Amino acid sequence: MKKDVLREASNNIGFPENRTQRVSFTNQKFKETFGSPSEFVTSAPGRVNLIGEHTDYNEGYVFPVAIDKHVNIAARKRPDRRVRLHALDVNDFYEFCLDTLPSIQQDAPAWSHYLIGVASLLQAAGKKVSGIDAVITGDVPIGAGLSSSAALSVSTALTFLTASSVSGTSDSAPQLEIDNKELARLCQQVEHEFVGVKCGIMDQTISLLGQENQALFLDCRSLEHEHIPLNLATHSIAICNTKVKRELAASEYNKRRAECEKGIAILQQWLPGIRSLRDITLTDFKKYEEELPTLTQKRCRYVIEENTRVLDAVAVLKTRHLQTAEETDESLIHFGRLMNASHNGLRDDYEVSCRELDVLTDIARNITGVIGSRMTGAGFGGCTVNIVHEDVLETFQTLVAAEYYKHTGIEPEIYLCNVSGGAQVFFF
Ligand code: GLA
Repeated sequence: MKKDVLREASNNIGFPENRTQRVSFTNQKFKETFGSPSEFVTSAPGRVNLIGEHTDYNEGYVFPVAIDKHVNIAARKRPDRRVRLHALDVNDFYEFCLDTLPSIQQDAPAWSHYLIGVASLLQAAGKKVSGIDAVITGDVPIGAGLSSSAALSVSTALTFLTASSVSGTSDSAPQLEIDNKELARLCQQVEHEFVGVKCGIMDQTISLLGQENQALFLDCRSLEHEHIPLNLATHSIAICNTKVKRELAASEYNKRRAECEKGIAILQQWLPGIRSLRDITLTDFKKYEEELPTLTQKRCRYVIEENTRVLDAVAVLKTRHLQTAEETDESLIHFGRLMNASHNGLRDDYEVSCRELDVLTDIARNITGVIGSRMTGAGFGGCTVNIVHEDVLETFQTLVAAEYYKHTGIEPEIYLCNVSGGAQVFFF
């Protein structure tokens, strides 16, 4: 089977394959819900992180790509302050007023918390926010560790900002008076204040800044970043979904963050200049690690090692185009080893993997042509990311599906990943 046929087969959500068609599809659904066309559609991608997990809230480094799965919102500005929403994929409706924002303790459905949160924080930041009618749909699998929630927040923020700057008299795209850094931080704050997850800044940033066929090397302290061409040559990125929901993710996630903060507070007694785990070298850490409780020690060690792995991985990919064919093979193999080591650290020291994720990575690593396999995202379920030689993509799909089913009784989903561009607004 050819690669594009596999890609089509892996789109089991039923949405049109291409982004422009999906935008028209969302507009069409808007028409069906509200009786006339929308003014614009915002579209924000999910992400898969190649390496650098649980480093973002430690002010460290990450290396994600935006994927060709999006949350789309078709919207039209209203003359009043009402927000009327149709969440197509769960066939749910919700309505609120911007002047009396409902608190999330009320009966507001979970998906609406993101929209209420974005509207609330935009208003608190002094931005103009208008009422809208909107239809929300998408194909980022929910709760699968591919950042469906960041895609929803980013798409929502662009929707409110765009609606507020649409004048109705001009064909040109309105200028949004907010930069991407500010927008990413605002969407991150929605998770903190309205969802209860003390997440980092990676997901929102890549959803905004993703570029086709490029990974984003992001410094999560300064938000300085560099787009690195993904010279994977004859290899592809395959994402395998355990289909295990990340039930523990929110509470355990916040606990991991607290452990890292505790580690820093203790280590500051000997290393007063440090602000986060990103400031400590492995050599310094080894001098003082015995001062930490065992659990804190494991958590901190993982983060410090992971930051080093990201820097190594980026260095490897950056020089590939300068290398001979033999050297590029070697460097990709090195990249794969770093991914495997990352997973092992997440499993053994950070303890955010789960049996299903480990089963998937073990299966993948035993297939010739797979150079690296690791869990991606917060963990406790969700997805693995794999770098697979194109010649074995079909074998990979067949073997992973069969073996995973044999071990767990679950049929996994496998997506072949096109590295996509970041969030956009489409006008009609
Ligand atoms: C979730 C969070 C991110 C990041 C990852 C783990 O996706 O939203 O901020 O911490 O987990 O790397």
